[in-house]
Amino acid sequence: MAAKKKSGKPAGRFAGRAGHQWADHLTQQAKADNYPARSVYKLEEIQQKFTIMKKKDTVLDLGCAPGSWLLYASRQVGPEGRVLGIDIKAVDIGLPANVTVIQGDILTMTDDTFLQQASGCRVVLSDMAPATTGRKDVDAFRSFELCKMALDVAERCLGVNGHFVCKIFQGNEFAQFEKQVKKRFGSCRIFKPESCRKQSKEIYIIAKNKR
Ligand SMILES: C[S@@+](CC[C@H](N)C(=O)[O-])C[C@H]1O[C@@H](n2cnc3c(N)ncnc32)[C@H](O)[C@@H]1O
Repeated sequence: MAAKKKSGKPAGRFAGRAGHQWADHLTQQAKADNYPARSVYKLEEIQQKFTIMKKKDTVLDLGCAPGSWLLYASRQVGPEGRVLGIDIKAVDIGLPANVTVIQGDILTMTDDTFLQQASGCRVVLSDMAPATTGRKDVDAFRSFELCKMALDVAERCLGVNGHFVCKIFQGNEFAQFEKQVKKRFGSCRIFKPESCRKQSKEIYIIAKNKR
């Protein structure tokens, strides 16, 4: 299980740590909590602050490997909920019964069968990230391309009042993407979890209540 918040703010867990020390701490914590990646704490912070998922929900997780968000979401929705995941890479951890994963590229996928299973879902999560090149403008543009596809999937799959969480690398295209999301959802917040690396350009858009 993920570490419990004591003071109501996950930030307390990381207080007094900096740089690699802090990243190492989260990696160790993820191991201790039986998650394959420390990215789980980003979703935990999002869930604690915005209450995106609830019991019995169906959640679609785009860019789900190595599987931390799948495990966390599975617990949030409970045995009567479902989590569907897709990633280019294989997910090679044991998964709970309410989780289904396929391997595929969301940008080139032509078979709609998988997305049809997610039709009417309550939540679309996208933690997708491109392979980075070291060139911030190129990486941000590739992230934007993934985000546009994630938003397209959210439009197709989410039921009315459904929620969308999407990671984006901040760059020239960020404002344009935020505008597109705002048009389609009742509320839209920008959030950088404490558990993101401080130097990272990644940020999350939390959009609630699809129109
Ligand atoms: C930061 S990782 C996700 C971590 C995941 N949320 C977890 O907690 O285990 C980003 C993932 O996005 C996936 N990805 C990138 N481009 C993709 C695409 N076009 N289609 C599907 N997955 C993609 C990568 O393969 C990578 O596994």
